[in-house]
Amino acid sequence: METKRIAAERAVEYVGDGMVVGLGTGSTAYWAIQKLGARVKEGLRVKAIATSIESEALARELGIPILSFADLAGEIDLTIDGADEVDADNHLIKGGGGALLREKIVAKASRELIVIVDQSKLVDRLGDFPLPVEIVPFGCEMTLRHVSELGCKPVLRTRGDEPFRTDNGNYIADCAFGAIHDPGLLETRLNGIPGVVENGLFVGMSSKVIVGCGNGDVVER
Ligand code: A5P
Repeated sequence: METKRIAAERAVEYVGDGMVVGLGTGSTAYWAIQKLGARVKEGLRVKAIATSIESEALARELGIPILSFADLAGEIDLTIDGADEVDADNHLIKGGGGALLREKIVAKASRELIVIVDQSKLVDRLGDFPLPVEIVPFGCEMTLRHVSELGCKPVLRTRGDEPFRTDNGNYIADCAFGAIHDPGLLETRLNGIPGVVENGLFVGMSSKVIVGCGNGDVVER
């Protein structure tokens, strides 16, 4: 927890007065939202766009003003979000919490994406973490078959006895591909399958990765 927190709090130092900030999702982004809320209480003026219903609720609770895309003129200045894996080129796997679609929409709309992780998320090559792929419920059996043809065994994520539903009402397939040699190619191929809405590969999107280490150091790269 502390390692996630120190990375998150460092990232919030990059938020300046008047910025529009993208709020990530997950246990690391939680600390960034908390810190941003504390800075807002001290007088920082920002507006935020959240990547999940959960993060938006937390931000509102903390008094962070929320903006909708309809009211956004131009771009989001800075988004701060977690990740499930970060490789040596700062490419990411995201979506462990199921928020990958909104996270990618927000990241794409942002001038900068700062990724906050603890050391356990750093890998040489992406793929140990099963890649989350958001798919529409209609025809999901066929979609899963087409996804599997790309070289994995997709597992439909469940919550209790039911399929897990994203904030967008879709399903998530967790896809263990093993080592992913060309993340950009896989991202494109997956998104070419009808029924796939988006996948958790974030290739070339991070501006900076901030790593919280067990000894209390914070490393930026
Ligand atoms: C949410 O869908 C994810 O992309 C998270 O950003 C990612 O799973 C990291 O989560 P933690 O910060 O909880 O590890």
